[in-house]
Amino acid sequence: MAKSFILKGDLVFNKVKDKLETIKDGFLVCKDGEVEGVYKSFDEIGDEFKQFELHDYSGHLIVPGLTDLHAHAPQYMFRGLWMDMELLDWLNTHTFPNEAKYADMDFAKKAYRIYTNDIKKGATTRLVAFGTIHTDATLMLMDLMEESGVVSCIGKVNMDRNSPDYLVETTEESMRETRRWLEEVCKKDYKNTMPILTPRFIPSCTDELMKDLGKLSKENNLPLQSHLSENLSEIEWVKELCPWSEGYGDAYDKMGCFGGEGRKTVMAHCVWSSEEESGLMKKNGVFVAHSPSSNSNLSSGIAPVRRYLNEGVNVGLATDVAGGSHGSIFRAVSDAIQVSKLYFRYIDESMKPLTLAEAFYLATKGGGAFFGKCGSFENGYEADILVLDEKSIPTPLDDLKLDERLERFVYLADERDIIHKYVRGNQLF
Ligand code: GUN
Ligand code: FE
Repeated sequence: MAKSFILKGDLVFNKVKDKLETIKDGFLVCKDGEVEGVYKSFDEIGDEFKQFELHDYSGHLIVPGLTDLHAHAPQYMFRGLWMDMELLDWLNTHTFPNEAKYADMDFAKKAYRIYTNDIKKGATTRLVAFGTIHTDATLMLMDLMEESGVVSCIGKVNMDRNSPDYLVETTEESMRETRRWLEEVCKKDYKNTMPILTPRFIPSCTDELMKDLGKLSKENNLPLQSHLSENLSEIEWVKELCPWSEGYGDAYDKMGCFGGEGRKTVMAHCVWSSEEESGLMKKNGVFVAHSPSSNSNLSSGIAPVRRYLNEGVNVGLATDVAGGSHGSIFRAVSDAIQVSKLYFRYIDESMKPLTLAEAFYLATKGGGAFFGKCGSFENGYEADILVLDEKSIPTPLDDLKLDERLERFVYLADERDIIHKYVRGNQLF
């Protein structure tokens, strides 16, 4: 498939957080997998690009691909189930027994095929996800993600304490398997799939393991993902486990697992982060993966996303399946707006609700920044593109503006209404 082409249609994207750019009947020129430019008319396109193949999607919305900054691939199989508990009981009762099933490669293959097929068909063009502690099943997940064409960072999970005996490693085993996993990944020569270090969270990793992973991350400039300040009982537990720290984020930082020096780090949730904690995230360039569906389902709370945006912290959206019940980042956009309104009404009226433009920014350019120039149609951005179809959500209103059509799509449409998808200029369908 040629990676240089022109798409014609109704373009909607963010350059800045709080404003959508819209071009009706516009032209999006992509050269070698990157955006060359957007134009109001064909005549404006540079002569050297005019001969690129033109795909005419007139009447369709064309938007940047979406980034899911935090998901649990193995939990996709039980999405929509068992939402009547808070985090720690939910992990012990449902999550750990089900993740243990990925020791069986036949089971893992079945489950990961379903997940990666759905990712391919859906709106996600960039994914940061957990596997399980099982090295071989995680490698299989990476093979399937590579096949899907979606760009991803996938992690073999580390757990060496406070975990059931059927889903735990010794510290040595955890590091040995992590090194073996990284060596195997090197041999694979993936184009779209990268490893990311994945200590589950402080309660399930000893200080020794965390420090070893921090060192490994530093020595090899490897990205890292984990969970932070999600649930009140979890936060109390971390205080007991790390009495030497000034807080949860500080504990990660002191163990070398909290970004800084250009190391990419994602922390999921950050529902209860103090200003000191978010200040440290800002200083170290840590990304917040905001997971409104999960935070509602597990009664965790509402993350202060408006505050993080005001403070200049990196924020993206996440499904967090299966704490989150849905695999769609379009759904996360409407969820993020809705919970921000509850935060405004119930918690702090100085924190204005998120607008559509802001929530769409989080889903595209905000989370996409984890992968570099990603999630916009500005010059030089990677050509991750979705072509949308609004037929399944008919309305007699025929004079809607492009941002209003996007709003309806966000609230009403589903993944079946995505008719074409491009990642790095490669057309997946
Ligand atoms: N914290 C540690 N593990 C998990 C998990 O699997 N899901 C969520 N939501 N939080 C976690
Ligand atoms: Fe999670």
